[in-house]
Amino acid sequence: MKHLLSAADLSLAEALTILDTAESMAQTQSRQMKKLPTLRGRSVVNLFFEDSTRTRISFEAAAKRLSADVINFSAKGSSVSKGESLKDTAQTLNAMGIDAVVIRHHASGAPHRLAETDWIDVPIINAGDGTHQHPTQALLDAFTMRRYLCGARDGAPAADGTTLEGLTVAIVGDILHSRVVRSNVDLLHTLGAEVVIVGPPTLIPVGAQTWKARISYDLDEVIRVDRPDAVMTLRVQRERMSGAGGGYFPSPQEYTRAYGLDAERLAALQDHAIVMHPGPMNRGLEISAAAADSPRSTVLQQVANGVFVRMAVLYLLLASDEGLEA
Ligand code: CP
Repeated sequence: MKHLLSAADLSLAEALTILDTAESMAQTQSRQMKKLPTLRGRSVVNLFFEDSTRTRISFEAAAKRLSADVINFSAKGSSVSKGESLKDTAQTLNAMGIDAVVIRHHASGAPHRLAETDWIDVPIINAGDGTHQHPTQALLDAFTMRRYLCGARDGAPAADGTTLEGLTVAIVGDILHSRVVRSNVDLLHTLGAEVVIVGPPTLIPVGAQTWKARISYDLDEVIRVDRPDAVMTLRVQRERMSGAGGGYFPSPQEYTRAYGLDAERLAALQDHAIVMHPGPMNRGLEISAAAADSPRSTVLQQVANGVFVRMAVLYLLLASDEGLEA
């Protein structure tokens, strides 16, 4: 596999190769000298047409720790605001001799377009496209689950080949607008976990019945009956709605009452269960401070693990003879 476009493209062996390589990368990051010479002389472009904090900085840190040169491109302040097309932007980068593109775009399918055309002939890594996919987020989430829900469950490195067989993961909230949930459902299924998606009917997309996940509209019932090992709360994407709830829910208060991860729901989870959120969080809406800051929360570990996973992806696509093939 030359590109990383979708979590659905990853076989079990490929997913495990990335996660195991990320564990090897993590080992190197506990040393005093964190920088590896692996990508010296290579240039990685972060091509961001949509806002990002975690993903962009994490890809930049990952590339730099592998000694690559990093060029950060933000649509704001570029010639995109003068109307330049994706094609012309890609061809301009190609002319500059870059070695990989990390792209975030508001249009679902934009990374696939770059990968299938001859505008630019380098590995393309999807850093989030519209409401479609965010594969490295799913990989860092799976990496975190392996460390906190498998083996010793203490955050220590997972053994090579560890799958998520036997785990139940509840993904809660704004399913409709989330690329994180789509990537997670694909990858979690590949790794053997059971997934329940939970949200109000208005925020469950048409077609979700075909996903490799069960659907529930009742978070309390899922916590009581399904006994999830991880509860992943999704951000309510208010920028993709108009007004407070955009007609998707009656009011923020009612949304929080039905789907917010508050102290009471936190206390009802199994002792070992973890609380995840891809960030950025709407504190007080989909997640309370009690949940976000609790010892069960892996929010910051997810961010830290993102660097290891992205180092692994860059290494496998740019420096390894096998690429992402397992
Ligand atoms: N999780 C995530 O994609 O965060 P950013 O939008 O800050 O990159």
